[in-house]
Amino acid sequence: MPKLIVTKRDGDVVELQGGAGLTVMEVIRDGGVDELLALCGGCCSCATCHVHVDPAFVTLLPAMSEDENDLLDSSDDRNETSRLGCQIPFEDGLDGLKVTIAKED
Ligand code: FES
Repeated sequence: MPKLIVTKRDGDVVELQGGAGLTVMEVIRDGGVDELLALCGGCCSCATCHVHVDPAFVTLLPAMSEDENDLLDSSDDRNETSRLGCQIPFEDGLDGLKVTIAKED
């Protein structure tokens, strides 16, 4: 199972194990990191699963949809590595992925 390395808002770093069919958001939420609210449950309609992805992994991620792009535009903390965690299937090829939870809007 791939490993996900998450930096929380207070700077703490936690390592989480992925699971078959889970997204990055689900791995973080199921791993007990409750500051990632994921209010819409992964429907790409809330942007509370906003993370910043380590630049080394950005090219490995699936392309961003228009909906995801629009939602991220609503965040003051958007930068060039911003993604919605629920839109990233956490597959074996992303083993070691590092993400930082974005500031709360
Ligand atoms: S959980 Fe709502 S957009 Fe990702």
